[in-house]
Amino acid sequence: MRREVNVAIGVLIVSFSLLFALNSEMTSKYTPNFFTNEKDIRQIFNYTSPQSLDRSWLNVPHRGNVSICQPNGNIAFLKTHKTGSTTLRNILNRYGVSNNLSFILSNKSSAGHVFRRLKGMPLKSLLPPIGVAVGDYKRYQFNITNVHMRPDWKELRQLMNPSTSYITILRHPVDQWLSSFQYFHHVNKVKKFLHLEPDPVKAFLKFRNKLGSSATSICNQQIRDIEYSSEYTHLQNTAYVQKKIEEYSKLFSLVLITEYFDESLILLKRLLCWKFEDILYLKMREQPNPLQADSSSREQIQELNKADMMLYTHFNETFWQMVDEYGPDFEKDLRYFRDYLTAMQEECVGESKVAIVAGNHENVRYNVKNNSANCTNYVAYTSSGDALRRQRHSLSQ
Ligand SMILES: *[C@@H]1O[C@H](CO)[C@@H](O)[C@H](O)[C@H]1NC(C)=O
Ligand SMILES: *[C@@H]1O[C@H](CO)[C@@H](O)[C@H](O)[C@H]1NC(C)=O
Ligand SMILES: *[C@@H]1O[C@H](CO)[C@@H](O)[C@H](O)[C@H]1NC(C)=O
Ligand SMILES: *[C@@H]1O[C@H](CO)[C@@H](O)[C@H](O)[C@H]1NC(C)=O
Ligand SMILES: *[C@@H]1O[C@H](CO)[C@@H](O)[C@H](O)[C@H]1NC(C)=O
Ligand SMILES: *[C@@H]1O[C@H](CO)[C@@H](O)[C@H](O)[C@H]1NC(C)=O
Ligand SMILES: *[C@@H]1O[C@H](CO)[C@@H](O)[C@H](O)[C@H]1NC(C)=O
Ligand SMILES: *[C@@H]1O[C@H](CO)[C@@H](O)[C@H](O)[C@H]1NC(C)=O
Repeated sequence: MRREVNVAIGVLIVSFSLLFALNSEMTSKYTPNFFTNEKDIRQIFNYTSPQSLDRSWLNVPHRGNVSICQPNGNIAFLKTHKTGSTTLRNILNRYGVSNNLSFILSNKSSAGHVFRRLKGMPLKSLLPPIGVAVGDYKRYQFNITNVHMRPDWKELRQLMNPSTSYITILRHPVDQWLSSFQYFHHVNKVKKFLHLEPDPVKAFLKFRNKLGSSATSICNQQIRDIEYSSEYTHLQNTAYVQKKIEEYSKLFSLVLITEYFDESLILLKRLLCWKFEDILYLKMREQPNPLQADSSSREQIQELNKADMMLYTHFNETFWQMVDEYGPDFEKDLRYFRDYLTAMQEECVGESKVAIVAGNHENVRYNVKNNSANCTNYVAYTSSGDALRRQRHSLSQ
C-alpha cells in the first residue's frame, strides 16, 4: 500500500497501525485495571529488582542553559509492538528529518523496518547515511534508529553515532498482549476451538497447549522486540530475566511507559535537551473495539508474559523515581506541555477521521487547517515515508 503525505493539499495520512495503545487516556492519568496479583509481582515471581539505570542526565542543567546542555539528535529507539511506539517513531521522524539526520532504514521494506534480526544483516540492505556513497560501509554511521528490528547491541552500537542515547517504550504486558492478539489476528490460531469456547482469548488460554510453539511465540513480545536472543526458551526463568533487566538498565538511558505517555515525553525532552515543540505529537483515536479480558484471563496472560511483566514492573518503578528526581518542575512542565499540545491541535489540525484500510492497518486522516510554518512543522514528517524518501533521494545527488 502506498501512502503519500501531501501537506500542500492539506491532507495528512498518518499511520494508525500501531497506535491502538493510545487512546484518550494518553493525556490523563492512567488508572490501570489491576487485579490483586499484579501488585505482588516480585513475590509471585520471587525476584529482587536490580540496580536501576544511570540517571545522571536528570541533573544536567537543561535547555535555557545552552552552554551546558546541547540538544542530542542521536537516538536508538528499540521499537516494541503495540505500545504506542509509532507515535514516538513519528516524533523522532520529525526531529530527524528537519535536522538533516540519518536513519537506519532497510531498503527492502516499504516502511524501512529491518525485519530480520540485525545480527548478520547485510549492510547492503540498509540505505546509506546522508552524504555517504552506497557501499562505503566504513562510513555507515547513523543518528537515529526507530524501526522494528531485533538488534544485536554490539552490532547496533557499531552503526550508531557514539553519543547515542538508547531508549525504548513498554506497556502493561496484559494490555499489550491483548492488543497484539487482536492486531495480528491470532484468533486464526484458535479458530478450530471456537465451537467449544467462543471467546477467542479464553479459547487460546484453554487450548494453548495444543498450539505448540506458536502459542509461546506470541508471548513476551516486548522483551523479544528489544533484543535478538537465541535464548527465548529461558523467558520463564526468573534469574535469566533478572540478568537481562540488569543489562537493559545499563543500555537504556530512558524507558518510556505507554500509560504515562506525556510524562514520558517530558523525561525524553530532558534527556535529549529538546524543546517543547520537538515532542508535540498528533492526537490519536481510540481503537473502536478493543479486546477485553476478565480478571481470571488477565491473570493467566500475566503468567504467560512473565518476562515482560518483570521488565515492565521494574522500569515502571524506575520511571517514577526519575520523575521524582526531575524535581518540582515536572508537574509544571507537564501542564505546560499539555496546554501547548491542546492549543496546537486546536489551531493546526482540522477535523480528522479514521480511514479504514485493508488488512490489519487502520489509518487516521488529518486535515491541516493552518498553513503557518509552526503548524506545518508540527504535522509534517510524521510518516515514515518522509525519512525514506529523503535518504533515497540523497543518493541521487
Ligand atoms: C526465592 O529465590 C531465592 C533466591 O533466588 C531462593 O533462595 C528462595 O528459595 C526462593 N523462594 C521461593 C518461595 O521460591
Ligand atoms: C546556568 O547554569 C548555571 C550552573 O548551574 C547557573 O549558575 C546559571 O544561573 C544558569 N543560567 C541560566 C540562564 O539558567
Ligand atoms: C534500493 O532499492 C531500489 C529499488 O529496488 C534500488 O533502485 C536502489 O539501488 C536501492 N538502493 C540501495 C542503497 O540499496
Ligand atoms: C545534510 O547533511 C549532509 C551530510 O552530513 C550535508 O552534506 C548537507 O549539506 C546537509 N544539508 C543541510 C540542508 O544541512
Ligand atoms: C550524525 O551522525 C554523524 C555520523 O556519526 C555525525 O557525523 C553527525 O555529527 C551526527 N549529527 C548530529 C547532529 O549529532
Ligand atoms: C506503575 O507505577 C505507578 C506509580 O508508582 C503505580 O501506581 C502502578 O501501580 C505501577 N504499575 C504496575 C503495573 O506496577
Ligand atoms: C494560524 O494562522 C494564523 C493566520 O495565518 C496565524 O496568525 C497563527 O499564528 C497560526 N497559528 C499557529 C499555531 O501557527
Ligand atoms: C512558532 O514557534 C516558535 C517557537 O516555539 C514561537 O516562538 C512562535 O511564537 C510561534 N509562532 C506562532 C505564530 O505561533
